[in-house]
Amino acid sequence: MRQPFSMAERLCSEFDRFLKTVAVPASHPAQPTPGADCGESPVPETEKPHVAGLMRINHTGEVCAQALYYGQALWARDDATRQQLHQAANEEYDHLCWCQDRLNDLNAKPSLLNPFWYATSFALGGVAGAFGDPVSYGFVIETERQVEAHLDEHLQQLPESDCKSRAILERMKADEVRHGENARAAGGVDLPRPVQKAMGAMARLMKALAYRF
Ligand SMILES: [Fe+2]
Ligand SMILES: [Fe+2]
Repeated sequence: MRQPFSMAERLCSEFDRFLKTVAVPASHPAQPTPGADCGESPVPETEKPHVAGLMRINHTGEVCAQALYYGQALWARDDATRQQLHQAANEEYDHLCWCQDRLNDLNAKPSLLNPFWYATSFALGGVAGAFGDPVSYGFVIETERQVEAHLDEHLQQLPESDCKSRAILERMKADEVRHGENARAAGGVDLPRPVQKAMGAMARLMKALAYRF
């Protein structure tokens, strides 16, 4: 079936999305930020830099998620795959807004390196998509598995009093698990071990840098 837009038009709209993701603060999520019933949710001054670092990592992770999903969708072989990837990306945009919200609460800024990570992730998503839909879904499965593990680590590190960050990360985790399960149900295959390890190494580099810058 012919795509409704030419590749040039789609790349233009992707550039527009890049700007909206990294050049302006993400806002207007479809689902409100979790933790509305948390009240003040204070973070002790001594722990603020660490919590801000964790939320900056999660914000950058969601920037990457936008780029990965749309990079993959650009090369999706069939419309159902593209729709599933877009649907997940919409939910990831909410995650991006929620992390931005919490960074604002903490008077912290997103990572300066987000444009770099977006471009890198978009290219990576494109490569995954080019290998065909089962591999592309496999890439989602592995990405979401790694994100789930890292969200668990962050949840353990949050101060007891930080109800709001906890509510955000728990809700994100539930969505990421579902994205992985949906990708498996749609025919995703397990990626080769070396690829999984390379993805993990890249994620560790992103986290180390985003925590600081
Ligand atoms: Fe997410
Ligand atoms: Fe996800």
